[in-house]
Amino acid sequence: MSEDYSKVTREYLFGTWKYQKTWNPKVIVKAEGTRFTDSTGKSYLDFSSQLVCSNLGHSNEAVKKAVADQGAELSYIAPGFTTPVAAKLARKLAEVAPGDICKSYFSVGGAEANEAAVKIARFYTKAPKLIARFRSYHGATSGAISLTGDPRRLYAPVPPGTVHAPDVYCYRCPFGLEHPGCGVRCAEYIGEIIEMEGAGNVAALFVEPIVGSNGILVPPDDYMPRLREICTETGTLLVADEVMTGFGRTGEWFCVNHWGVVPDIITLAKGLTSAYVPFSATMVRKPIADYFEEDNLFCHGQTYANHPIGCAAGLAAVEEYQRLGLVARAKKMGEYLGKRLNELQDSHPSVGEVRGKGLFWGIEPVKNRETKEPFATRKQRFEPTMLGTMAGEALKKGVYFMTVLNTMIFAPPLIVTEEEIDEGLGVVDEVLKLADAECT
Ligand SMILES: Cc1ncc(COP(=O)(O)O)c(C=O)c1O
Repeated sequence: MSEDYSKVTREYLFGTWKYQKTWNPKVIVKAEGTRFTDSTGKSYLDFSSQLVCSNLGHSNEAVKKAVADQGAELSYIAPGFTTPVAAKLARKLAEVAPGDICKSYFSVGGAEANEAAVKIARFYTKAPKLIARFRSYHGATSGAISLTGDPRRLYAPVPPGTVHAPDVYCYRCPFGLEHPGCGVRCAEYIGEIIEMEGAGNVAALFVEPIVGSNGILVPPDDYMPRLREICTETGTLLVADEVMTGFGRTGEWFCVNHWGVVPDIITLAKGLTSAYVPFSATMVRKPIADYFEEDNLFCHGQTYANHPIGCAAGLAAVEEYQRLGLVARAKKMGEYLGKRLNELQDSHPSVGEVRGKGLFWGIEPVKNRETKEPFATRKQRFEPTMLGTMAGEALKKGVYFMTVLNTMIFAPPLIVTEEEIDEGLGVVDEVLKLADAECT
């Protein structure tokens, strides 16, 4: 390569969520299927679908063609008009969405999908307050980051009326209880928060049905149904942020389907286009859609709402999930991945807990299984950590996976094979020895 694009990047571009001097980005020139290649020709197995978004794998012919064809035919039109592709995608999403979720607002990223959800919830309920949980990530824009509870909410004040609730984190229960004897206290406590804030004052409760970048926290089976009941009883809208968990990732079209729960609003991005084009959706149930058919203003919009190229990518991606049967495949391959990860727990003292569903798994390594001492504290979120070292070593060995604070995230594209899972876990097995060596 004639120029050092890593150097040019460092000079002219910000690196995300990091001290800039620590950023030494690899230059990636190609990605195909479950692999990507850097400028030296080295190839990597993508064991996290990048940021848990490349669900179809890379370089899918149908999506690439749909994007190119749409670009050639009609790249952009103001959202006051419509296009065949916007209409078709909105109808297709209503078909695959849970329950009576039937109408969409399209924007360009997960944060924006959540911003739209906040506005819709407030218009509909005429209530100001919002509840989200501490271990959550809902996006980087002003409103979404104030809902977010994780350390990325640096210097962002939580506006009056936004309240954070304790997490569903059975491995380290915030109430010191154990399921099922706990009676899902963490869900009941959210009911209490709504009561204290004043039922009727709370527009919405935002939850990731399985918490993603804050630890792959899988709730017990009675948690989401109980939250649904509490929201219904108190007139609070339940917003499922399925930006990460949507589109087959957890072995169901949408994660809430595992529990038969229909949220009032669902927010989608990432897998919606499998990351081929930045695009997102905020979808609502029929009573909310109907509300805006009356004399109630839908006071929201953006230049890129319903962008034709995003719609084309979304439609092609959803059709590919269906054509290739990838939701069922994620369930089947996920069972294999989960079984193999659980086996690693037997041979590595550092593996504290393995948790996940479908092709969405995490390992939480600890220094000591008895005390559950973590490798890093919340304060160290942006510092070098053992998990960062492990991910760096894995990359050298040709396997990419994400780590966030104390969780290693394994979420390969839904087209992954058993052989590729074995290949990825072979490297995970090796790098876990680094953590084992620090166990007490
Ligand atoms: C659950 C969840 N919600 C929202 C977002 C924000 O999406 P975006 O980065 O596209 O704005 C993310 C991003 O990782 C996410 O994981």
